[in-house]
Amino acid sequence: MKIVVFTGSPKAEASNTFQYFRYIQRQLPNHHYSIIHVGVEIGKIEADKDYLNKIIGEVKKADAVLWVYPITYFLVPAGLKRFIELLLPNKAADAFANKYATAITTSMHLFDHTSHAYIHGISEDLGMRYVPGYSAQFNDIIEEEQRRQLLLFGQEFMTTAGRKLPVERVYGPVAAKVPAYRQAETRMVGKTGPFKVLFLTDETPNDKNLGYMTDVFLRHFPNRVEFININDIRLAPCKNCLHCTYDGVCVIDDDMNFLYRERILPADAIIYAATIHDRYLSARWKLFFDRFFLNGHRPVLTGKQGGFIISGPLRQVPNLRQLLACFTETFGLSSRGIVTDEYKEADHVTGLLQALSGRIMEGLEHGVHRPPSFLGVGGKKILRDINFFTRFIFTENHRYYAKHSLFDFPHNQRMMRLMGRIIVPLMNIEGFRKKFQAGMNEKMLAPLRKAAEE
Ligand SMILES: Cc1cc2nc3c(=O)[nH]c(=O)nc-3n(C[C@H](O)[C@H](O)[C@H](O)COP(=O)(O)O)c2cc1C
Repeated sequence: MKIVVFTGSPKAEASNTFQYFRYIQRQLPNHHYSIIHVGVEIGKIEADKDYLNKIIGEVKKADAVLWVYPITYFLVPAGLKRFIELLLPNKAADAFANKYATAITTSMHLFDHTSHAYIHGISEDLGMRYVPGYSAQFNDIIEEEQRRQLLLFGQEFMTTAGRKLPVERVYGPVAAKVPAYRQAETRMVGKTGPFKVLFLTDETPNDKNLGYMTDVFLRHFPNRVEFININDIRLAPCKNCLHCTYDGVCVIDDDMNFLYRERILPADAIIYAATIHDRYLSARWKLFFDRFFLNGHRPVLTGKQGGFIISGPLRQVPNLRQLLACFTETFGLSSRGIVTDEYKEADHVTGLLQALSGRIMEGLEHGVHRPPSFLGVGGKKILRDINFFTRFIFTENHRYYAKHSLFDFPHNQRMMRLMGRIIVPLMNIEGFRKKFQAGMNEKMLAPLRKAAEE
């Protein structure tokens, strides 16, 4: 079979993820692999339409497509995201239609599921028959059993594609249209609030709805806002070099270090405004989030209020809603809500924007912070473990986690350990166990009941 391999890492063949593909290539040599390093070539692909068409032509001649990339910020790296954006309006779907596709990724398993859901949905948008992908931990390949599993995966994919076996379609198409939003001019509210509020957007002249929504929000919001359009600042792609993990400073000489330290960290609230492109936001936003990696795994947005103004069919992309929750919950941002323009009635959108503004102010005044769900709790535990064991790489993270007592492993709780040591052997005695269990629920409830009465 002829297989087109799209790699997404900015490190191309020197990347972790490429080694997983390399293993499959060596083990299954009876196929022709045509490799395109999208992560490093995206500039050329963007600038040279003939080159893009040549790539699309390669796919037309192929039997299958393999996406090979590291998971970055719960999705694909910015370069690959941009490539996908170039494919969709270029009628690439004709070339991709009915090809088999799958993905091989490496990561720390932190929200790898949202990334796989994304590439799955995109593959189906391109008309491909998608076989669920392989999500490896970055160093799995060192283990013999993991290599065996990888090979089994590769063989199964080749068999499915070679025999043209049927596969399930999982995601419905996204109908891109949302009603036009135009609100009669709303009253300008005095900007008397004392807070530092940052408004980040990637609005372009094409994003009419987003422009009007932003305008209504800013008019209504009773606090001064620092407004930054991330299209107007110098922002180069992340190189995945990991140098920032030592001291939290990015080696790239552009505006990100300043934006992070002087605008994001001091802010009391951050509002993100964006338009949906395919099943995510724009590639520019993805680039911004990839560069946010200089923050490492530190929940540096804790205590800040946040909000999202999104133009586009968010209801049809629940994966994106979840991804935003992964972001806010992991980094500690207190999300006061997401407003979209998916309503026919402009007044309703305006009301939602005004309500969001009110909630953000309430949050600022009272320090509102809801408990995280599984996403935040689970995400933080994964990060805690990584940071504990990788002090020599993620040095800045380790410092931060130690300082903020975030290494909160259960085995650090001496009292619980002691109780475990005493009570576990006693529980093996039937008489003790029966007595203990009879009063157990009441004992657990008693302090809660007392708290509720206070
Ligand atoms: C900018 C950036 C963002 C990352 N985001 C995630 C993430 O969201 N989830 C995760 O599990 N790992 C994340 N990682 C870790 C990488 O996925 C992992 O190190 C991967 O193996 C790198 O592969 P590569 O060498 O092929 O680029 C991130 C790494 C970088 C540099």
